Formats: sequence, C-alpha cells, structure tokens
Amino acid sequence: MSLPHKIKMVEVGPRDGLQNEKQPISVATRVQLIDLLSESGLQAIEAGSFVSPKWVPQMAASEDVLAGIRRAPGVNYSALTPNMVGYERARDARADEVAVFGAASESFTRKNINCSIEESLERFRPLAEQARVDGIPVRGYVSCVLGCPYEGDIPAERVAEVSRALLDMGCYEISLGDTIGVGTPEKARYMIETVARQVPLEKLAVHFHDTYGQALANIYAALQAGVGVIDSAVAGLGGCPYARGASGNVASEDVLYMLDGLGIHTGIDLGRLAKAGNFISHALGRESNSKVARAIAGEHGCIEGD
Ligand code: HMG
Ligand code: MG
Repeated sequence: MSLPHKIKMVEVGPRDGLQNEKQPISVATRVQLIDLLSESGLQAIEAGSFVSPKWVPQMAASEDVLAGIRRAPGVNYSALTPNMVGYERARDARADEVAVFGAASESFTRKNINCSIEESLERFRPLAEQARVDGIPVRGYVSCVLGCPYEGDIPAERVAEVSRALLDMGCYEISLGDTIGVGTPEKARYMIETVARQVPLEKLAVHFHDTYGQALANIYAALQAGVGVIDSAVAGLGGCPYARGASGNVASEDVLYMLDGLGIHTGIDLGRLAKAGNFISHALGRESNSKVARAIAGEHGCIEGD
C-alpha cells in the first residue's frame, strides 16, 4: 500500500501536553518550549488554549504566551477556542488559527465543555462565521472517536456526523481524537474510512493518545488509509483533564523517527525536536515519555538541552 510522500505534523505539546500538568508551569517555560519547537522546523504549533481558566488553570495566560514567543516565519501558532469569548481572546492575542473542539460522545461533551453535542455545534457556528470574516482558519476536533471514558464504544457513524457538521460550518481540517488512547489499528482504519465518506480524506488529521501503547500502530494504519496530518506532543506530554485515564499524546519524536524511517518528508529535525522535549522534561522534573528521545540521550550519554 502506498503511503503519503509528505506529512504535516501538528505539535500539540504546549497545549494538550501542558493542560493536564499538576504543577504550575510558568509563561517563560511555555514560551521557551514553543520557541525550541519552532527551531526544529515544525510549522504547526498549538500554543495555548482560550478556555475558562477556572476549568483549566494551566492554560491561563495564553495571551502572555502568544505575546512572548518569537514568531518564526512560516509557523502557524494556533489555540483552542470553545466559544466566542475564547475566540475573541485568541484573535486579540494574534493566534494564526483557532480550533473548536467537539466530541462524538454526549457524556464527554457535557463533562468537557458543559453542554450537549448539538449545543456545542450551535456555539461553534457563530465563532466559525466570525473567523471567516476575520480571515482566521478554524480547525475542528472530534474527541472520543475510538471510545469514550463514560460511554465506552462510539459508533464510527456518529464520529462521521459530527465531523461533517464541523466541516459544513467551515472547519478546514478535522482532527480525529482518540482521547483515551484505546483504539487499535483495524478500528482506526474503519473509523477513518467511515468518516472519509463524509469528509474528504485530505481534510482529516489524526490525534492519538498513547494510553495502551497503540498510537504508532494506529498512525501507521491512518497513513495507509491516506491521512496526511498527524498531531503529537513532544516528550509524549499530555492528557485531557476531563477524560479519566487519558495519558499522554503520542510523542512527536517517536512519530518523526517513524516517518523518517519510512522516507516521508516533514522538514523537521529530530535532534532539535528532541532538544525541545528534553527541555520540557527537565522543567517538569521527569524523564521524557518518548522512547526515541530516551534512546538518543542514551547514545550520547547525556540529555541534550539540559
Ligand atoms: P461554562 O461554565 O458552562 O461557561 O463553561 P459559561 O459560558 O456559563 O461561563 C462561565 C464563566 O466562565 C463566566 O465567567 C464566563 O465569562 C467564563 P463568570 O461570569 O463566572 O466570571 N468564560 C470564559 N472565560 C475565559 N475564556 C473563555 C470563557 N468562556 C466562559 N473562553 C466552557 C463552558 C466551555 C467555558 C468550559 O467548560 C471550558 O472552559 N471548558 C474547557 C475544557 C477543556 O479545555 N478541556 C481540554 C481541551 S479538549 C481536549 O483536550 C481534547 C483534544 O485534545 C482532542 C482529543 O484528545 O480528543 C482537543
Ligand atoms: Mg488530546
């Protein structure tokens, strides 16, 4: 089966990665992480989240983060926006792109953004419309695409419906989130094929958490299905505070190592990416979750970026 020649990697570490941390993380650390990530050649970095700081305190001051970063040419700095309040904050902070986030599970939607799926779509519509007027691209996330922490299995058709609704309101890309990392490759392939009947394949991204260690295998299945955009978090940081048991995102270093090995072009430098991962792991006082980063550190006998 032929694989895509070129892949866009979307780095979600500074947002998905840090939103679930117990310890406070300073704006300066968040800024430095983002700047190191842009130095690796990544072109899409989710830099923050304009959600309620009462709900997710770790993402407070995302304005200051966006104001503090060195904006590298060609890099797209995006942010999560759950509603118009968040959108206006993101626009004022000069986010290059915003992302709305829905889910294919009613219970998860309720826990995560305090409304039903239908209400969430109603909230996103005026946001997407205003973003169109302002010329700001909108990405759409669908969570729980391979399972929900509250409802268990989620039908692929439900994922397709929500994805289609996000596409129809103007999202240029739909990121399919295995929020709790329970998917396996055949299920992932079936889900992607089902969604691709409603949303063109070239508009789909995949977003795997690695709770059960299946993320790389699932990504490979997604590549075989023709998906060309992959979300990941440096050092395998991450998790959603409203999804019990959700562990880190697939590590960006591990994804890049696999893509390099497959001869797929990304334009990203593995050494520099690992340096960003080592920086944040050191700041958090723990070992990286990326096996590739740990292997590289072992080869060199020290951790770069320390
Ligand atoms: P709510 O309490 O229902 O909102 O929360 P509300 O509209 O009733 O407002 C309550 C208060 O919050 C008001 O302030 C608003 O002004 C304020 P008060 O009058 O009490 O002083 N408020 C805001 N403040 C700042 N920024 C805002 C904002 N909106 C309202 N944007 C809300 C609804 C959506 C705000 C809340 O539920 C929320 O912030 N949820 C965010 C949850 C979250 O961030 N989850 C993690 C991200 S999703 C994820 O990780 C999954 C993903 O990675 C994909 C995957 O893995 O599957 C994307
Ligand atoms: Mg996530």
